Amino acid sequence: MTADAPKGLVLVTGAAGLLGTVLRHGLPQRDWAVRNLDVVPVDSPEPGEEHLVADATDLAAMVDAARGVTAVVHLAGIATESTWPAISHTNIDSTYCALEAARRAGVGRVVLASSNHATGYTPRPDGGLLREVDAPPRPDTYYGVSKVAMEALGSLYADRYGLDVVCLRIGSAFPEPTSTRHLSTWLSPGDTLRLIDATLTAPSPGFRIVWGVSANTRNWWDLTAARELGYEPADDAEGYAEALVAAHGEPDLADPVHGRVGGEYATEIFDAEVPEERG
Ligand SMILES: NC(=O)c1ccc[n+]([C@@H]2O[C@H](COP(=O)([O-])OP(=O)(O)OC[C@H]3O[C@@H](n4cnc5c(N)ncnc54)[C@H](O)[C@@H]3O)[C@@H](O)[C@H]2O)c1
Repeated sequence: MTADAPKGLVLVTGAAGLLGTVLRHGLPQRDWAVRNLDVVPVDSPEPGEEHLVADATDLAAMVDAARGVTAVVHLAGIATESTWPAISHTNIDSTYCALEAARRAGVGRVVLASSNHATGYTPRPDGGLLREVDAPPRPDTYYGVSKVAMEALGSLYADRYGLDVVCLRIGSAFPEPTSTRHLSTWLSPGDTLRLIDATLTAPSPGFRIVWGVSANTRNWWDLTAARELGYEPADDAEGYAEALVAAHGEPDLADPVHGRVGGEYATEIFDAEVPEERG
């Protein structure tokens, strides 16, 4: 796929990671050209694949990387809880750089990998589905705080500079669900691709925050806003339910792991002041 692919060229930061790997293989099949960026090389690059080894907190490098692209998908960062200095530098500074680089390079759209942990202490509603607008910032960790900052920076750049900015409150984006919580929070690799393609394609979305989950039978996060962007999920974690429930038992919805958006992150074991004790 060349840079003159029908849909355009996308800069994917964090391209060597789990979700980045899904995108670098999947977006070209959906008519996007991809420019990878990561602090480490990607595994097994395809012939001609464009990859920049650079730090997403380096604004000059990010501006260079953003020149000529249609959109930026910003995934780079620490994808779990860590210390405040590490989280604030890597996650918050890199988000500033992604947005500011897009602005300076004249790129109109940025997709940001936020997280359910931006609102992790939000309780499960008594009934019905939880909409994004009913889940304001309520972070469960320093990691979650960095995703609140990500959404706030995205809002600023949308309002101040007119960028289209879509924040994805991603659930559990793994190859397969591995816990009973994931029966509600799983985002499959295929749906990751469908969601990001939709956010890149939707006409003039402005500023949006949407959940990123598959069409799971046990979902309790409302997908209406994501569907309005054109997201059509095709996968459902329920196919894994029998094995997971046999191994772990039916989820106890009174347990905070199932009763709060952030699951176990919204419990004391994710206190970042003692990360080395978490194992
Ligand atoms: N996988 C999930 O379930 C999930 C859920 C919610 C949010 N997210 C978010 O999605 C994004 C991607 O997650 P992932 O699971 O692919 O994580 P990952 O750890 O597999 O990938 C992150 C990538 O970012 C790169 N990176 C880190 N610091 C960098 C820097 N300063 N400059 C350039 N590259 C840097 C790493 O080398 C790595 O390749 C993250 O922002 C994460 O917080 C993921």
